Amino acid sequence: MAFAGQFLLFLAATLLVLDTISGTTAQLVPTGLSVTFNDVYYYISPYSSGKLVLGPTSLSSVPSVFGFKPVTVVQEAVTLSRIPSLLSNWTAIDDVFQPAFAEAIFLTGASGFSITKQDAADASSSMVLPLRDPTIPSGPYFLEMATGSLYPVYRLYDDFAGAFTEALLQTPGGTFQPLSAQIPGSASLTVGVPSRLYFTKTADKPLAGVRIGVKDIYQLAGVKNSNGNRAWYNLYPVNEVTGTAVQRLIDAGVQIVGSQKASQFANGEMATADWVDYHSPFNPRGDGYQDPSSSSSGAGTSIASYEWLDAALGSDTGGSIRGPAGVQGLFGNRPSHGLVPLDHVMPLSTALDTSGFLIRDPALWDITNSVLYGDNYTSLADVTPKYPTTIYTVSFPTNPSSSLAAPILIDFVDALASFVGGTVAPLTLSDAWTASRPPAAGNTTLSQLLNITYATFISKEQTSLVRDPFYADYSAVHDGRRPFVDPAPLARWAFGDSLPDSALDAAISNKTLFMDWFNTQILPPVNDPAQCSSSLLLYIGSSGSQNPRNQYFSAPSPPFGFSTGRVSGMAECPDSVYPLGQVSENSSITGHEEWFPVAVDILAAKGCDGLLARLAKDLAAAGILPVPQVGGSITGGDILMRKRAEEKGLKMRYIG
Ligand SMILES: *[C@@H]1O[C@H](CO)[C@@H](O)[C@H](O)[C@H]1NC(C)=O
Ligand SMILES: *[C@@H]1O[C@H](CO)[C@@H](O)[C@H](O)[C@H]1NC(C)=O
Ligand SMILES: *[C@@H]1O[C@H](CO)[C@@H](O)[C@H](O)[C@H]1NC(C)=O
Ligand SMILES: *[C@@H]1O[C@H](CO)[C@@H](O)[C@H](O)[C@H]1NC(C)=O
Ligand SMILES: *[C@@H]1O[C@H](CO)[C@@H](O)[C@H](O)[C@H]1NC(C)=O
Ligand SMILES: *[C@@H]1O[C@H](CO)[C@@H](O)[C@H](O)[C@H]1NC(C)=O
Repeated sequence: MAFAGQFLLFLAATLLVLDTISGTTAQLVPTGLSVTFNDVYYYISPYSSGKLVLGPTSLSSVPSVFGFKPVTVVQEAVTLSRIPSLLSNWTAIDDVFQPAFAEAIFLTGASGFSITKQDAADASSSMVLPLRDPTIPSGPYFLEMATGSLYPVYRLYDDFAGAFTEALLQTPGGTFQPLSAQIPGSASLTVGVPSRLYFTKTADKPLAGVRIGVKDIYQLAGVKNSNGNRAWYNLYPVNEVTGTAVQRLIDAGVQIVGSQKASQFANGEMATADWVDYHSPFNPRGDGYQDPSSSSSGAGTSIASYEWLDAALGSDTGGSIRGPAGVQGLFGNRPSHGLVPLDHVMPLSTALDTSGFLIRDPALWDITNSVLYGDNYTSLADVTPKYPTTIYTVSFPTNPSSSLAAPILIDFVDALASFVGGTVAPLTLSDAWTASRPPAAGNTTLSQLLNITYATFISKEQTSLVRDPFYADYSAVHDGRRPFVDPAPLARWAFGDSLPDSALDAAISNKTLFMDWFNTQILPPVNDPAQCSSSLLLYIGSSGSQNPRNQYFSAPSPPFGFSTGRVSGMAECPDSVYPLGQVSENSSITGHEEWFPVAVDILAAKGCDGLLARLAKDLAAAGILPVPQVGGSITGGDILMRKRAEEKGLKMRYIG
């Protein structure tokens, strides 16, 4: 008795001490679990989808790890004999599911324990057990035997293109946390994607399960941003809110799998030397060492590299979606300005910033646009479009032997003209301007009017909206110090500092002069929703020329000058990139023929964004446009860096 009394006293004293140390209850929080299953890397989400009533089963033949067993939930009302067909369909449409999950199947409507063959051709069979909860989506799960809880399965992939800044787990509540998983990869993150089987597209959730990467300038609840700057990432805490644009995608059912690399503060940067804080992602096309363009660099490289990713949300101020879409051979849209509020997105210039997608599937593009732009977007999916019949071309080749890309560009324009039953009209903007410029422009040429307008907008706006508050916060935390900033934004900001405050007003007035002229004289809208735009205007998006990332350039300078690529920004009209094909050229990197993408930019009147998405879909269906694939070329194929020695029977070479 005496002994027991002493023991109790000792316990009480120990608890008291612990209580003094921690003060609160210890928080032990699961962040998920990584496993391999038949050599496939998986992640088990810490967020349960529901519970099974297990009854007296132990599922003893099913393998187990840390008390979890792989199982399959089937909500479809299928008979036992149809299960093999269902599973083989799942294997075909979902990269996460594999038949090994189906050793134990919980089937809606099953009355008791039974056994069925998974596949007539092989010996494997499944235990089939009753499923009572109709709310747990079909698909593969890990079942926690101790509790009956089912946890969703993610497949893990290596971000070999270096496209992501952070891999994210989207919680059931629509907020985010870092994905706690790592598989082999060379200085690359591990990204997880949930089974596609969990999601069913509905009118309310037209993007259910669509996997998306988001440029690291959009704020997501629970996530830190870098804006391409390490000091920024480390200085500020996690965001508490998700901005309007991304929230619309989440509400429509997307699964955001990570934030993606942007050149610093969304300023244009070359892969060599300009990307001081982070390494520029890798363009998988051709020799694998072409500049991926910027600033939506992670967006472009990921959509060209990863079958498991459906779309990337980028932003375009002066070409940040169009550039990466062109050199990676993808669809990409700079939308009409102002279609979606850009709260909680880092600004470059509020007058020019837009939010759009890089994507492979033109049919999905129309849906992502409809969700992102809401009422400001008119989808032409359900109407018969009346395509504009005037096709302006700017700086297009006319002689097929003038360059490798010329035949592709010329063939496309001819095919487009015959598809819409229209005619091609070469246009020289500077001449058109001189012929019909507004009286207020005097005799100013286009290049005089707009030479410094873009540089003025971005530098004047970003210095006051981003740099100044950032420098002040950093200085307060770091005893008066300045944060590191890459050379490209610094050169632009310095130009902004050299301008008087009135420069922004001058930029607005020059832009307005151009916009009003362009939108009435060159590309006016028409009052018929099935046509929308009076004409289409084409310019070369990517000519397939080599721009390897190992060349040294002179130091970055502000983006002066006027070019066709500036038109949509100044006129606020949509400008979409379509991949057209590719040229084969001897690569300066590999000394071997490689494929380099060729792409066109097409402008329509302001507000006619739906027309451009529909045109892409129709031209792809007609075989006039390719639907780009992931891989070393836009028609697929190996990404050079991913080819393995074993394929040629070569063994590990031990040196030394
Ligand atoms: C599997 O897909 C095929 C082809 O789409 C379809 O005919 C079949 O009904 C599907 N099987 C099940 C069980 O849904
Ligand atoms: C439509 O555009 C206007 C003007 O830019 C904007 O104020 C409004 O929020 C947009 N509406 C939607 C649904 O995004
Ligand atoms: C533009 O017009 C002004 C006066 O109208 C004239 O002085 C000037 O020489 C003109 N410039 C050019 C380049 O024609
Ligand atoms: C554009 O502006 C820059 C900077 O002021 C200047 O150096 C350049 O000569 C200008 N170019 C033209 C075509 O006016
Ligand atoms: C505006 O246009 C005038 C020519 O009319 C040009 O001299 C000036 O540099 C332009 N300013 C900006 C900020 O675009
Ligand atoms: C390709 O370029 C390499 C040098 O970069 C050269 O050695 C090789 O002969 C070239 N091949 C062809 C087919 O021109």
